[in-house]
Amino acid sequence: MLGHPWVFDSDVLTGSDTPAEPAVVRVQGLNGALLGYGLYNPASKIRVRMVTRHDQPLTAALFIERTGAAINLRHEVAAGYEAFRVINSEADGLPGLTVDKYGPYLVWQHHAAALTPFLPAISDALQAAYRPIGILARNDSPVRALEGLPREVAVMHGTVPELLSYVEGGLTLLAAPYTGQKTGAFLDQRKNHVLAGTLARGRALDMFSYHGGFALHLARRAEQVIAVDASTAALAHLNRAAAANGLSNLTTVESDAFSYLRAQADAGERFDIVVLDPPAFAKGRDHLPAALAAYKEINLRALKLLGVGGRLCTASCSQHVSEADFQAMLKEAASDARRVLRLVARRGQAPCHPELLNMPETRYLTFIAVEVIDVF
Ligand SMILES: C[S@@+](CC[C@H](N)C(=O)[O-])C[C@H]1O[C@@H](n2cnc3c(N)ncnc32)[C@H](O)[C@@H]1O
Repeated sequence: MLGHPWVFDSDVLTGSDTPAEPAVVRVQGLNGALLGYGLYNPASKIRVRMVTRHDQPLTAALFIERTGAAINLRHEVAAGYEAFRVINSEADGLPGLTVDKYGPYLVWQHHAAALTPFLPAISDALQAAYRPIGILARNDSPVRALEGLPREVAVMHGTVPELLSYVEGGLTLLAAPYTGQKTGAFLDQRKNHVLAGTLARGRALDMFSYHGGFALHLARRAEQVIAVDASTAALAHLNRAAAANGLSNLTTVESDAFSYLRAQADAGERFDIVVLDPPAFAKGRDHLPAALAAYKEINLRALKLLGVGGRLCTASCSQHVSEADFQAMLKEAASDARRVLRLVARRGQAPCHPELLNMPETRYLTFIAVEVIDVF
């Protein structure tokens, strides 16, 4: 296990003492030595999600303590932000639970059946700390079906409106907690949104905009911003947020990003900054070559839109694409586009989405900002 918190089905010897239903279990090695306690589910390939490696039976008090530690960490790493992730599953010692905070609202996603008896204690601890107006359980992820849990979206406490507005880097952004992606917005990019805004000028292009996490920040400094996404609903929210911020230099385009970029490159269009933040192209390890080819295609086309001094902010949220693979792809795209790129920043997800070094899958986001310093 070497510190990785999952025990897979193939690692478990089933016997008369293995529970038939999701339960808290004591885990021991073949030699009988105690490995710790975890959340067991006989229906899941992830048979046990370890909670502790000590002789410490799982109690509500332990989960309350973990919730308190997660909240304290955010006081440090999310200071000055209204919206951030409060609980990030295994990385906060609370496997199978993520909780995002949007101002006075919390949105949570739960997908470990054996954690269920402890949810009221965790919810009470969150309520005591944040006094939220409402908590939404956004429990519609397909992972719930793998755990034998029903898929549902329900208000757990108070009231939660259809759209939540929150301030990020001085701008009002919108989250759609019931229907939007993730818990309604992309809080993992919050620091990268702000950084891209500081790099903006002239003509800006934000590809895969969603609600405009990048586009709105670009619009504060750029003269003109074009935001492209395939989703009508996402762009409607972006336009609403632009109006709320009094930003009139932003135009939305509903289009497939691949064909839009191709058309712009073919037409010889030029931009001063381009942002690429596509959905995860590699859903599994087998998709890696196809995903890298797709990343290369959009990065190559985006680079062709930039002259000397132009900036590219490019991201991958594919857990299976390492930072090294992504950077190698970008280097190839730069050679093919005949651009020399200087690194401005190389980053990951915001620190309210902490990573466990023992669990590489908790690091999934790569964000690279570069400047074109020569075209040859
Ligand atoms: C990772 S999200 C973008 C998040 C956004 N940049 C932010 O920081 O808030 C990916 C977006 O890509 C859009 N999308 C997916 N496939 C697309 C395609 N082929 N063309 C255009 N948009 C696409 C989705 O609708 C979604 O809004």
